[in-house]
Amino acid sequence: MKNKAIGVFDSGLGGLTAVKELIKCLPHENIVYFGDTGRVPYGTRSKETIIKYAMQDARFLLEHNVKMIIAACGTVSSVASSLGESLPVKFSGVLEPTAKAAACATKTGSVAVLGTSATINSHSYKKHLESINPDIKVFEQDCPLFVPLVESGFRDKEDIIVKSVIERYVSQFKNTEIDTVILGCTHYPLLKEAIAQTLGGNVKLIDSGYETALYTKKLLENHNLLSDRKEEGKREFFVSDTPHNFENIAGLFLGRDMKSKATRIDIEKY
Ligand code: DGL
Repeated sequence: MKNKAIGVFDSGLGGLTAVKELIKCLPHENIVYFGDTGRVPYGTRSKETIIKYAMQDARFLLEHNVKMIIAACGTVSSVASSLGESLPVKFSGVLEPTAKAAACATKTGSVAVLGTSATINSHSYKKHLESINPDIKVFEQDCPLFVPLVESGFRDKEDIIVKSVIERYVSQFKNTEIDTVILGCTHYPLLKEAIAQTLGGNVKLIDSGYETALYTKKLLENHNLLSDRKEEGKREFFVSDTPHNFENIAGLFLGRDMKSKATRIDIEKY
């Protein structure tokens, strides 16, 4: 069991923000990643569709005999919150670890949440934060243009399009009592530098991909499920549309050559 892979899925590139940290903190683990690039974005879709997609993604990963599944997707974690209960392996979404980190980070008790429309409409982060500390004030903002920006390769903090889209959604949180902002969609850390530049240095950004990777390490440790492999783990990447764009952006983000590293699969079969 220990040496089986960790399965990670997202609607596209976003889950790589968790994979990047998993590679750093669990270098001996095998990872199987699925990015549903043919059906991205999830965050503008109905609950029924998001649940159907998430189930298919999980079934694909189970076929790879994984020991754990991570829904590295704020939208799935918010809308398909009972997914883990139907799976025969350990499971983590991004909500709990991210909300916990934000609740610990805030000094002023005012936290903003950025997420997809589905995530924000579900108020999932708000509910989690309030269950940790009922005194926390939560401000929510959906940012539907962030995912298409990231999936199209726009990340540069000096790019005029990137700057103006970010300004449009987050400028309301500048110079307020809010000291902590949750990047509640795993795509958003790919825009972290640009978001930080807009908000200014005094605001702490909480990266849902990063926090989920740290949580995964603890969970595997606690269940004696860490691999005892000595060599570096194997990483496999699957997508549901042409791999080219995914490989280019993933390569830049992960800092490794991803050319011909992603395989296209038909997710509708699962
Ligand atoms: N990266 C995902 C999330 O964390 C999904 C974004 C989308 O497909 O809309 O919400």
